[in-house]
Amino acid sequence: MLIGNVEVKGLARLAPMAGISNAAYRTVARECGSALTTSEEIDATGLHRKNTKTRYDIAKYLPEEKPIALQILGSNAETLVPGAQWLQDQGADIIDLNMGCPVQKITKTGRGSAMMKDVAKTAKILEAMRAALTIPFTIKIRSGWDEMHLNAVEVAKMAEDVGVDAITVHPRTRSQQFTGLSKWDMISQVVDAVNVPVTGNGDVKSMSDARRMATETGVESVMIGRGAMGKPWVFDESFEDLSPAGKYEYQTRVINRHMPLIMEHFPEKVGLIQMQRHLSWYAGGRDRVRTFRVELFGAESYQETRDVFDRYWASVDPSVSEQPNVAVV
Ligand SMILES: Cc1cc2nc3c(=O)[nH]c(=O)nc-3n(C[C@H](O)[C@H](O)[C@H](O)COP(=O)(O)O)c2cc1C
Repeated sequence: MLIGNVEVKGLARLAPMAGISNAAYRTVARECGSALTTSEEIDATGLHRKNTKTRYDIAKYLPEEKPIALQILGSNAETLVPGAQWLQDQGADIIDLNMGCPVQKITKTGRGSAMMKDVAKTAKILEAMRAALTIPFTIKIRSGWDEMHLNAVEVAKMAEDVGVDAITVHPRTRSQQFTGLSKWDMISQVVDAVNVPVTGNGDVKSMSDARRMATETGVESVMIGRGAMGKPWVFDESFEDLSPAGKYEYQTRVINRHMPLIMEHFPEKVGLIQMQRHLSWYAGGRDRVRTFRVELFGAESYQETRDVFDRYWASVDPSVSEQPNVAVV
């Protein structure tokens, strides 16, 4: 798939997830086969105020990730335009606008999925962003605000008219948050309505699900969110064919790549949370995982965390690895 001039090589890619899809995790997902990665949402107001955490922590990416999409979140052109330009100047290959976040503290200030409510106002913001950016510009939307306002098709057409290069659809409404099943039919409706490439998202947990979504909806690309938590190998078709010992070895390799990336690229306070969260997911489905998690979350430094994990990991039976389909948050 081509997003503007950026080639997306492969069907499935990691979805943006706040607190999860950061540079370290995106890099391992990419190395496992994610066709492209998108940053978690980056607050335009934080960029505008030159907030250090927003600018140099959340917006950070690693050279191995290129091409990279950086996702911005905001409610007005005054902050979104300079924010997106700043991200472009940092080397982003694509700017993605978050028009799907359902969280109340975000939507009450007009950000995320609230941008789908007033289409005319949002069109002006998109126009201003399009005019200011020289790189591909994409949006990620839901099916609508609620069941009474299912306007993904209207929003997608408006976006195509103002020159947006691609659209991702997560077909749940803002009211549904993350509950219930996503309705893929809404993705098909958007595919039929626009000529720009569409990415489908929602309840994809494997590459076979991704192929099914492509066949059923006509999308050229699929995003995997929760199904990739603690499972970056979901993007590697060959993983499922490995023996239990082969899977254990593959997972060990990924963990040994991921943990140093966290230690190198985060301040220890933030990194420790990241490390424990991901290690807890990586252990999903293994023996004695509950006791392990208690010990893991009690560790107070990188070294202690790594020691707890290494002891546990060396003691598990490699032939038992029933990872749940969706990691426990
Ligand atoms: C913990 C969490 C954080 C998320 N953060 C973002 C985000 O920053 N930006 C965004 O566009 N979507 C975000 N999402 C939504 C996902 O990108 C995706 O649209 C949604 O989870 C549906 O896909 P899935 O069924 O594969 O998980 C988040 C989802 C979760 C579970």
